[in-house]
Amino acid sequence: MKFFADTADVAEIRALAETGLLDGVTTNPTLIANSGRRMSEVIAEICTITPGDVSAEVTATDFDTMLREGRYLRAIASNVAVKVPLTEAGLRVCKTLAGEGTRVNVTLCFSATQALLAAKCGAAYVSPFIGRLDDMGQDGLQLIEDVVEIYGNYDFKTEVLCASVRTIGHVLEAAKIGAHVATMSPATLRALVRHPLTDSGLAAFLADWKATGQSIL
Ligand code: E4P
Repeated sequence: MKFFADTADVAEIRALAETGLLDGVTTNPTLIANSGRRMSEVIAEICTITPGDVSAEVTATDFDTMLREGRYLRAIASNVAVKVPLTEAGLRVCKTLAGEGTRVNVTLCFSATQALLAAKCGAAYVSPFIGRLDDMGQDGLQLIEDVVEIYGNYDFKTEVLCASVRTIGHVLEAAKIGAHVATMSPATLRALVRHPLTDSGLAAFLADWKATGQSIL
């Protein structure tokens, strides 16, 4: 499973890239707004930090403008994946850009049939939003299971990118289902590393080691 950071904070992205755990980045208009920077500038910088795909989202809603925005965004760097919303115009843009060899991430997916359409339009990624479905009392992980099953039935190459991931449990269950990617906040990504028994075990090892008076080097 690939791990993407869902942020436009370049300091965070740089720190995560150094760990070797980062496979790519997703952004959205809200995250770009939070960065306080111009989209083209921040996307260009992120693309130099990670060789993985960096999703940059169009902000128009009509086909022509969305397509022009998508072509502009993909020209920023070779690892830009153009993100389009799961609307009729967005799917049409996806089909057009995919036909031109551009990697497209179809976002704001909330149903398995929507995900089927994204795959039929040649999306490189589809982004079902788990957390936002859970927030409404629905089962976000069930959607991931359904999409993975449907894509398997037809051998679609579109990768299932679990978005709106809020918990370690989301990552665990999505990995068990076989989702290709999980994108999450840097805090959630770091939370995957930690376990209280790792911390207490390490403290005990270090105390015992100190008592020996030895040093390895
Ligand atoms: C994915 O690409 C989205 O940017 C993101 O996962 C949305 O998550 P949220 O529901 O926490 O805003």
